Amino acid sequence: IDELIADGVAGKRVFVRADLNVPLDGTTITDDGRIRAVAPTIAKLAAAGARVIVASHLGRPKGSPDPAFSLAPAAKRLGEILEAEVAFATDTVGESARATVEALADGKVAVIENLRFNAGETAKDDAERGAFADELASLADLYVGDGFGAVHRKHASVFDLPARLPHAAGDLIATEVGVLKKLTEDVKRPYVVVLGGAKVSDKLGVIDHLLEKADRILVGGGMAYTFLKAQGHEVGISLLQEDQIPVVLEYLERAENKGVEFVLPVDVLVSADFPDLKTKAPANPATVAADAIPADQEGLDIGPRTRELYAAKLADAATVFWNGPMGVFEHPDYAGGTAAVAQGLLDSSAFTVVGGGDSAAAVRILGFDENAFGHISTGGGASLEYLEGKTLPGLAALED
Ligand code: 3PG
Repeated sequence: IDELIADGVAGKRVFVRADLNVPLDGTTITDDGRIRAVAPTIAKLAAAGARVIVASHLGRPKGSPDPAFSLAPAAKRLGEILEAEVAFATDTVGESARATVEALADGKVAVIENLRFNAGETAKDDAERGAFADELASLADLYVGDGFGAVHRKHASVFDLPARLPHAAGDLIATEVGVLKKLTEDVKRPYVVVLGGAKVSDKLGVIDHLLEKADRILVGGGMAYTFLKAQGHEVGISLLQEDQIPVVLEYLERAENKGVEFVLPVDVLVSADFPDLKTKAPANPATVAADAIPADQEGLDIGPRTRELYAAKLADAATVFWNGPMGVFEHPDYAGGTAAVAQGLLDSSAFTVVGGGDSAAAVRILGFDENAFGHISTGGGASLEYLEGKTLPGLAALED
């Protein structure tokens, strides 16, 4: 981006592809980390006199306008963070967007509405995506890719648009890639990885890679129950991906052969009912051994013995990568496991990287000081796919 600025951006319309996909409760943003992370790039361009057009997706609307997924709250928050007026276009490439961009003075910022309100953004068909990218390109003179959280998506604004405009990577992408590169190239050992989140199927690629890299893998969250089941334990009504059991078994065997320590929960918090996340009414979970989950109960967090065990397994780490919460942290009765892992990261002297929308949000929502961690990535799927060594469309498009 500095080269782009040195070449002169004053008076130019610069399209910044950000990831403002923040968690919302109605129109209230519950974690603004992603907006704060990209704000410096936007401020830098504005300070250099650019007319900055900020674009992003939010959620997964179905290719047409849906007020529940409007970027308006994110645009408002961006204005507060920048302490500047931020214009908002109520469509993406329509009349409002064109008029908003036209009216944009040098050094001013506008946000256009959710890119995914247009089916062309996520279309599988190259021509359909290309046609939408053409429309986006007509709004701008230059392109800055800085939506790290979306670089794993082959979407029009991420992949096709940079091919149509002179482009550069923003500072957020540069920082993210710099940190994740360290984990793939010269990682300091012991390298301990904590994986959580709901679905084991989302993590298979990264586990495959980590079996070659990590010294120790600690597993929690919904995905842990597929591992427990694979080991022959009953998991009651806990989340389970039965079809993944053969893969999980193969990974456990490979871990053993390679001397990678694979650590699973030894106890869990269970309940017959999923907690009410709106009222947060007390859930009164019971603690049971991980091999004794009753048939009518669901595991919703790692238990106290597991928390201690995981803290001990983190204590001597030199590098830690953590992706995915350990339980339903949105409810206070099931936030303890995720909080214990966050504390475990802070108590170790390791270089700590928190990757993933959910675990990054959890750290902040649970009140931890985000600056105490080595790096909190804005990418969930993106950081995992980077670690897997995959070619990420949004990075490949910026490379030339
Ligand atoms: C994320 O939250 O991981 C990114 O914003 C990408 O969102 P997506 O999974 O809906 O493409």
